Amino acid sequence: MNWTYSDAMNTNKRPFVFINMAMSADGKVSTARREQLRISGTEDFERVDSLRASSDAIMVGIGTVLADNPSLTVKSSKRREERVNSGLPENPVRVVVDSLARTPTDSDILNVGTGRRIIAVSEQAIVEDIGRLGDKAEIMVCGKHEVDLEKLLYLLRSQGIKRLMVEGGGTLNWSLLYHGLVDEIYIYIGNMIIGGDSAPTPVGGTGFVRPDELLQLALISMEELDEGVLLRWRVLPKYNETTDL
Ligand SMILES: NC(=O)c1ccc[n+]([C@@H]2O[C@H](COP(=O)([O-])OP(=O)(O)OC[C@H]3O[C@@H](n4cnc5c(N)ncnc54)[C@H](OP(=O)(O)O)[C@@H]3O)[C@@H](O)[C@H]2O)c1
Repeated sequence: MNWTYSDAMNTNKRPFVFINMAMSADGKVSTARREQLRISGTEDFERVDSLRASSDAIMVGIGTVLADNPSLTVKSSKRREERVNSGLPENPVRVVVDSLARTPTDSDILNVGTGRRIIAVSEQAIVEDIGRLGDKAEIMVCGKHEVDLEKLLYLLRSQGIKRLMVEGGGTLNWSLLYHGLVDEIYIYIGNMIIGGDSAPTPVGGTGFVRPDELLQLALISMEELDEGVLLRWRVLPKYNETTDL
């Protein structure tokens, strides 16, 4: 089934949105070649899996799908079972932000694990590519040239998604933060240096240029995990946003 923004206009809410990322001690999320690295250890792996299991949906950008080919499933069978016992599907809904419908049909996100998948595309996506993906995922068309994230979030909320976990990458994170659509950020800082001017960081995009534009955060907690540190931040609002917590 294909959804459009107009289907969601009657709701005035978006999900609670949190970003989870892991970076090196020098603030990089992968190598300059954009190759995925293991930045954290088993304790953090469990924490991320538990966050996934607590979410209604997991969102990533197409850049992350093409670079890392993640499945974004809940890895622990016990957590999947707990979700099912409480009337939820085994895995949260998996959402790819992909203006041109470039998600490969053989990608893990579309093939590994059970559950609903949504590919959010813009009006620029061509019908053949939408059709190709339509067998494996629901397509949501929102946005003219790129995916309109605000509209997408309202649309997801109208579909019952109240808690949304974002797992990267930096381009998607920037857009969400810039538009005031993020409530919390979890950043795990690992014990290694990656280096490289062009190695991606947790937030990319054009960035803020004036000091008065900067997004302010409040520290919620800080904890030692594996060989690194986990920081949890609340994003202080810049915009009047209504969230349904
Ligand atoms: N360490 C970690 O925790 C972690 C987690 C995730 C990813 N990563 C790394 O991050 C890198 C990938 O990040 P990335 O920044 O290249 O890609 P990304 O943020 O995953 O995806 C960005 C893409 O999403 C699409 N998009 C559509 N509408 C958008 C909108 N409104 N705003 C923003 N993006 C929109 C754009 O492509 P189209 O225009 O084609 O749609 C854009 O290029 C990889 O190296 C990966 O390994 C690291």
